[in-house]
Amino acid sequence: MIKQGRASTGIYGLDDLLGGGFRENTINIVRGGTGVGKTTFALQYSLFGLNRGDKALYISFEMSEEQIIRDCNDIGWVEILYHIKHGNLKIIQLFGEDLTFPSLDLAEIVRTSLSASNTRIVIDPLTYPTFYSEKEKRKSLSTIFQELRKLGTIVIVLEEPADSNHVAEGSAMPLYLADTVIHLQNLGFGEMYDRTIRIMKHRGSKHGDSLYPYSIETGFGIVLRPSEKQMDRVKPKTKFDNVFKEAIRKTKSMGNVGELLSARIDALRKNWTHDDNPSHVLDLILEEEKKGHAKNT
Ligand SMILES: Nc1ncnc2c1ncn2[C@@H]1O[C@H](COP(=O)(O)OP(=O)(O)O)[C@@H](O)[C@H]1O
Ligand SMILES: [Mg+2]
Repeated sequence: MIKQGRASTGIYGLDDLLGGGFRENTINIVRGGTGVGKTTFALQYSLFGLNRGDKALYISFEMSEEQIIRDCNDIGWVEILYHIKHGNLKIIQLFGEDLTFPSLDLAEIVRTSLSASNTRIVIDPLTYPTFYSEKEKRKSLSTIFQELRKLGTIVIVLEEPADSNHVAEGSAMPLYLADTVIHLQNLGFGEMYDRTIRIMKHRGSKHGDSLYPYSIETGFGIVLRPSEKQMDRVKPKTKFDNVFKEAIRKTKSMGNVGELLSARIDALRKNWTHDDNPSHVLDLILEEEKKGHAKNT
């Protein structure tokens, strides 16, 4: 279900931290070590859409269709079989050697397998080739990402060594190519803060920037468990609306710049998540913007 250019992730509690979900036609990377829940994330994302009328295309470099069905049944997502039978979910198992980087084979496979535009696309995991030069890799991956973006909203799973300090030189994925990067971590001590999720990057909107605990629950999958304080930090505050309105009033005498500015200040008002009064920030903005205005007239 894609609403207002955003696709709900289906990960309980995550959409609120992402300004509503993944943006349409973007590359969204979920990275982390083995066992953190990357595949669970990808399946949960797929099933959330499938249960609401979307299609899903799941490209797996790791698991066969049988394995995926078994894992889904184990967690309690029994509807997976229905979606496969009715052609809503297509699972393609690939082997690394099937792809010859830096060609566009991956994008080509996705393109030819798509049956509808409202398809959630997953690549689990994207194994990053190490046999090309740094420059070639960058070029090919950015081209592939560019191609994939045109096809839909993509979730790419990245398997990373637990000790990320020892990532081999040159084998790291250029994360700047992605629109969203979500990092899952598991410390493995069996405590509340063992499993944490962090949004490292989310283009186009403000996002939660804490380390949020999560757990994997039977029947539901990944459930975020942010504290009240963490939730409060992403909630826009309305208590300063008057301060914003006063600043907007001050833009009235500023001509064209003022018109642009009043719209931006209103956007800032809607996104003001801080607990402190914005008057200082607004004074600073008005002062700077006035400078430019004076120069232009
Ligand atoms: N039915 C379940 N109930 C609770 N947790 C589960 C269930 N199935 C799997 N898990 C948890 O999910 C983890 C595996 O997640 P997975 O998505 O396969 O990880 P990754 O793809 O990151 O390697 C397991 O280590 C386990 O802790
Ligand atoms: Mg996996």
